[in-house]
Order: sequence, then C-alpha cells, then structure tokens
Amino acid sequence: MKSAAREARLPPRSPGLRWALPLLLLLSRQGQMVCAGDSPGTNYRLSFSNGSSTCCQQVQTKPSPVFDIEAVSISPTNVTLTWKNNDTAASEYVYRVKNEMEQEPTIPVANQTRCNITGLSPATSYTFSITPGIGSGTWGDPRAIDIMTEPSPVSGLRVAFVGMRKVAVSWSNDNGTASCRMLLEDGSREELTQGLAVNISGLKPGGQYNVTLYLPESNETRRGPLVTESGLDANSTERSPAESWPQPRSSPTSPVHDENLLGHADPSFGRQSRDTDILLVGLKPGTQYKATVYSQAADGTEGQPQAIEFRTNASRVYDVTLVNISATSMTLTWKISDNESSSVYTYEVHVAGEDNSLCLNETVNETHAVISGLSSSTFYNITVHPFLGDAEGTPGFLQVYTPPGPVSDFQVTMVGTREIGLAWSSNDSDSFKINITQDGAGKSWVKTTTNQSIVIDGLYPGTKYRFEIFPQGPNGTEGISQTVYNRTG
Ligand SMILES: *[C@@H]1O[C@H](CO)[C@@H](O)[C@H](O)[C@H]1NC(C)=O
Ligand SMILES: *[C@@H]1O[C@H](CO)[C@@H](O)[C@H](O)[C@H]1NC(C)=O
Ligand SMILES: *[C@@H]1O[C@H](CO)[C@@H](O)[C@H](O)[C@H]1NC(C)=O
Ligand SMILES: *[C@@H]1O[C@H](CO)[C@@H](O)[C@H](O)[C@H]1NC(C)=O
Ligand SMILES: *[C@@H]1O[C@H](CO)[C@@H](O)[C@H](O)[C@H]1NC(C)=O
Ligand SMILES: *[C@@H]1O[C@H](CO)[C@@H](O)[C@H](O)[C@H]1NC(C)=O
Ligand SMILES: *[C@@H]1O[C@H](CO)[C@@H](O)[C@H](O)[C@H]1NC(C)=O
Ligand SMILES: *[C@@H]1O[C@H](CO)[C@@H](O)[C@H](O)[C@H]1NC(C)=O
Ligand SMILES: *[C@@H]1O[C@H](CO)[C@@H](O)[C@H](O)[C@H]1NC(C)=O
Ligand SMILES: *[C@@H]1O[C@H](CO)[C@@H](O)[C@H](O)[C@H]1NC(C)=O
Ligand SMILES: *[C@@H]1O[C@H](CO)[C@@H](O)[C@H](O)[C@H]1NC(C)=O
Ligand SMILES: *[C@@H]1O[C@H](CO)[C@@H](O)[C@H](O)[C@H]1NC(C)=O
Repeated sequence: MKSAAREARLPPRSPGLRWALPLLLLLSRQGQMVCAGDSPGTNYRLSFSNGSSTCCQQVQTKPSPVFDIEAVSISPTNVTLTWKNNDTAASEYVYRVKNEMEQEPTIPVANQTRCNITGLSPATSYTFSITPGIGSGTWGDPRAIDIMTEPSPVSGLRVAFVGMRKVAVSWSNDNGTASCRMLLEDGSREELTQGLAVNISGLKPGGQYNVTLYLPESNETRRGPLVTESGLDANSTERSPAESWPQPRSSPTSPVHDENLLGHADPSFGRQSRDTDILLVGLKPGTQYKATVYSQAADGTEGQPQAIEFRTNASRVYDVTLVNISATSMTLTWKISDNESSSVYTYEVHVAGEDNSLCLNETVNETHAVISGLSSSTFYNITVHPFLGDAEGTPGFLQVYTPPGPVSDFQVTMVGTREIGLAWSSNDSDSFKINITQDGAGKSWVKTTTNQSIVIDGLYPGTKYRFEIFPQGPNGTEGISQTVYNRTG
C-alpha cells in the first residue's frame, strides 16, 4: 500500500472527525482507507482536496478484534462459539472462523456472533480464530480460543460379575480418552442413604484395576479406596489385544483365569483392547450401588457420564441344624454364605409356634443359638435372618417338633408270677413304647400303647425285668425315657 498522504478537508456534515483526522490515514489507490484511530469499522464520507479537484470518498476503518470468545457448548464432535464486538458497525460485520489445527476451509458467519463447528474429533485440542471483517473485504485482526473437545462417553458399560462383596465392571474407551473416573454411590436415587460416594480416578483405558473399598460396616469412620492396578502390566495402554484381560476362550495358550469371577461367555470379548476392567472389592452384600463413569481427556475435560446400577448378592443363612433338642429347649447352628466377615453379622432367630401360638425372638452375633422356654410336643417354625448393618440377607429355615417330656410317676402297680402291671402319667404324649428286657439274658421286646397303664404278660416267674418307657411325640419324636426294674413273683 504505497499511498500518498493527502490533505483532507472535513466535510461540513462531519464535524466530529476534525480531531481524529490528523491521526489518520493511508489512502490506497483504490481509495480505501485503513484507519488506525478510534471508531473502528465506522463509515466516513470524506472529501479530499487535490488542490484543483475535490473528490468524495466513502471509507471504512478496520474492525476491532472480537473479544469475550466463549465456547457455550462443547460436545465430543461439536463446539458452539460466541463472541462480542463493540464496534458501532458490528451488526454489519462478517466473521471468519478458522480451525487453526486442520486444513479446513474457514467458516463464514454473517450477521451474528455465534458459530457452530461440527465434525471435530473427541478429546482433541483445537485452536479456533475469529476474524471480523467488513463486507467490502477489510479484515480485522484475528483472536483465538483454545478448546478441548469432550471425550466420547465410555461405551459398553457393563457389570461382568456380581458377587456378594465383589463386582467387576467393564467398559470400552474411545481413542482420545486419556483416563476415566468412576463415582461409586450406594443406594438408589430414591432412597439416598447417608451415602457412600467414592471417586476412583486415573483409570487408564485398557487397564485392569482392583479397587478395595473400606466401607463402614456400621458407623465407623470412612477411609478412601485402595486402588491397585493389576499385576500384568501397569502401562497397560500399550498392550496388544492378545494380552488383554480377560483372555478369549478360544486361545489355547491363554493363562487360566477365574471364569467364576469373570463370567464372560462371549469369546469375542477379549478383542477389545481398550477395555477397562475394574474389580470392586469390599462392597456390602445385598446392597444397591450405582457406578457412574466419566471419560476424561488429557487435560481433565470430562465427557458425558454413563451410569450402571447393580445390587450385590445378598448373604444367605443356610444349613440351619439342630444340635440337640429337648421338650423345652433346643440348640441350633447355621452357616452364612459370606466367609469374609461372619463376625460382623447379627442374626435374628424367630421361633414361631403352631398357628403362631408362641413367638420368640432372639438376636445373636454368632452362628449358634440356644432357644429355651419351648413347649413339648409342639411344631416350631424357625427362621434365621442375617443382618449386616442395615442390610438384610436371605434367611434360613428349619421346621422342628419338640419331643414330649418324660412320663412322670412311672411305677409298678401289680406283680404276678408271669405278669407285671405298669402305670405312668403324661400330658403331652398319646402313645408310649415300652422296652422290656430280661435281666441277664439280654432278650428284649417292645410293646406300644396309647393308655397310661399296661400289663406285661408272658414273663418268667422269679425273673428280674427292666421296663423302659419312651413317650412318643408328633412326627416321630420321642421323649426321654424312664426306667423301672421289677422281679416277677
Ligand atoms: C453435532 O452437530 C451435528 C450437525 O449439526 C449434529 O447432527 C450432531 O447431533 C451434533 N452432535 C452433538 C454431540 O451435539
Ligand atoms: C463493550 O461494551 C460493553 C457494554 O457497552 C462494555 O461493558 C465493555 O467494556 C465494552 N468492551 C470493550 C472491549 O470495549
Ligand atoms: C441481520 O440482523 C438484523 C437484525 O437482527 C436483521 O434485521 C437482518 O435481517 C439480518 N440480515 C440477515 C442477512 O440475516
Ligand atoms: C447451532 O446449534 C444450535 C443447537 O444445535 C442451533 O439452535 C443453532 O441454530 C445453530 N446455529 C447455527 C448458526 O447453526
Ligand atoms: C484409534 O487409534 C488407532 C491407532 O492410532 C487407529 O488405528 C484407529 O483407527 C483409531 N480409531 C478410531 C475410531 O479413531
Ligand atoms: C456408633 O454407633 C454406636 C451405637 O449406635 C454409638 O454408641 C457410637 O458412638 C457410634 N460411633 C460413632 C463414631 O459415631
Ligand atoms: C485382583 O483381584 C483378583 C481377584 O481377587 C486377584 O486374583 C488378583 O491377584 C488381584 N490383583 C491385584 C493386582 O491385586
Ligand atoms: C510405565 O511408564 C512410565 C513412563 O513411561 C515408566 O516410568 C514406568 O516405569 C512404566 N511402568 C512399567 C511397569 O512399565
Ligand atoms: C418377633 O419378631 C416378629 C417379626 O419382627 C414380630 O412380628 C413379633 O411380634 C416378635 N415377637 C416377639 C415376642 O418379640
Ligand atoms: C456379641 O454379643 C455379646 C453379648 O451378646 C457381646 O458381649 C459381644 O461384644 C458381641 N460381639 C460383637 C462382635 O458384637
Ligand atoms: C415358616 O415360616 C416361614 C417364614 O415366616 C413361612 O414362609 C413358612 O410358610 C412357614 N412354614 C410353616 C410350615 O409354617
Ligand atoms: C431295649 O433295651 C435294650 C437294653 O437297654 C437294648 O439293648 C435294646 O436295643 C432296646 N430295644 C429297643 C427296641 O429299643
């Protein structure tokens, strides 16, 4: 632009320009003017005097750069930018938006200070410049903004294994995702318990992690999670697909891994080299959890979260066993299907009698209980409920009958040479077995009666006999026996 500076005379209608003009001006051959002074982008009508002739010229100053560039929305592939320009003529400006990172054509924007940029790559750093211009082809200086696009959300988020205290969660990552963060919460949205909320961050794509949580069993103080990366390869992002975990079943050389733990039946699973596998250890049995996974770009920009809910398996009482039982008490044992911490369980033992005639409750913190105060010859329905804090497990059951009590007043009522009469009383047995043994000979036989007396005949004279009576109860139960001895006459 080699233009001669000329003397300019103010047109009568622009008195305000008088003081500004000395700051000016370079006039191009085409008569355009680049203004370095104030009121950028303003139209001026100028008169130029060339000594002999005067010409009238329409000129414009260069637009000011835009300011306050903002990315009002960022997604994995789209960015919406807004900006401002205070120039008085700004409403007529056009803008060029340029992706400085790629050889893309610039995006022209007319009549607004907003631009949607699409077709970007997730989790990628971009610089966009915005240049204001006047329709006639005068461009101002560009101003730029650096933007990191959001990483794509994780995909294929799934629970690969659910146990009582362990859950394996896996997902796939897109290229560009530098790491992930998992937010683990307990309870569901509706019933927010006092709230576990653990952040597990730095989960690299392709990594395998064991996360041991220290969850308070009751109201202990909380500790942070312990994250250990699986021993295979700490720099797991560089692993080849063949080494990824878990191994495809079809591979004959694949090392043994715990099928029970992983539970993958899909042999194609192992081909996804960018899968992240995380084994959460130390969860509470029978508890609802929600895991939310955020993908993160290298600078920490987080993508849209993906969430999955799961419930750990409840612990279960099983093998409720009668150790011994009498007419009025019994001793029970049972097992709990959680060998990791049976001690912190409490058990509520409910003992319900026939038609709920009697209901006893007992709370213990061991896997056995002695129940007393029972009635003889009675059906009892026993339920053992396990509790771990406020989480209730699956109960175990046992149905038992108490035996009748021993007969009372078992006595000899009559003695003959070949017979002996016996009598007794009982209020909880309808049937009695009497074992008759001839002393010395060892010969014995059994008689049964529903009466409370009997005459045993067919005995040898002058011989000593042993009579043992067993009261018979419901369902084949038998009470404790009583014994008398007597000699025939
Ligand atoms: C990005 O923009 C394109 C075109 O406007 C649209 O189809 C797509 O849904 C947008 N994607 C996101 C994540 O907003
Ligand atoms: C632009 O205009 C706004 C409001 O008129 C003002 O607050 C702001 O300071 C101006 N910005 C510039 C760079 O002149
Ligand atoms: C530019 O914006 C103004 C005001 O919003 C409107 O009146 C005009 O029609 C727009 N022009 C174009 C070309 O969109
Ligand atoms: C940008 O995208 C938003 C939302 O998708 C839409 O409302 C708006 O009209 C778009 N603007 C332009 C200039 O394409
Ligand atoms: C991911 O990156 C790998 C290696 O850089 C490339 O081969 C592959 O095409 C990329 N995938 C996508 C979906 O961009
Ligand atoms: C835990 O709970 C027990 C009884 O509910 C209470 O006595 C104890 O003070 C509590 N401990 C803490 C640390 O809150
Ligand atoms: C992670 O847990 C699994 C199952 O409990 C175990 O086999 C493996 O050795 C653990 N890995 C690490 C690095 O602790
Ligand atoms: C992982 O990579 C980092 C940096 O590249 C290196 O310092 C470290 O030793 C590597 N760890 C393993 C287990 O290879
Ligand atoms: C035992 O517990 C059950 C269930 O919680 C309850 O219905 C019953 O009333 C309790 N019985 C006694 C004697 O506490
Ligand atoms: C178990 O209960 C007994 C008494 O019922 C109590 O003394 C003991 O401290 C309890 N043990 C635990 C681990 O709670
Ligand atoms: C025993 O109690 C359980 C639980 O209360 C109930 O489901 C079951 O039907 C009862 N069994 C009998 C034989 O009463
Ligand atoms: C009867 O008692 C004798 C001696 O105690 C014993 O050997 C025998 O097995 C008993 N018979 C029955 C049927 O109980």
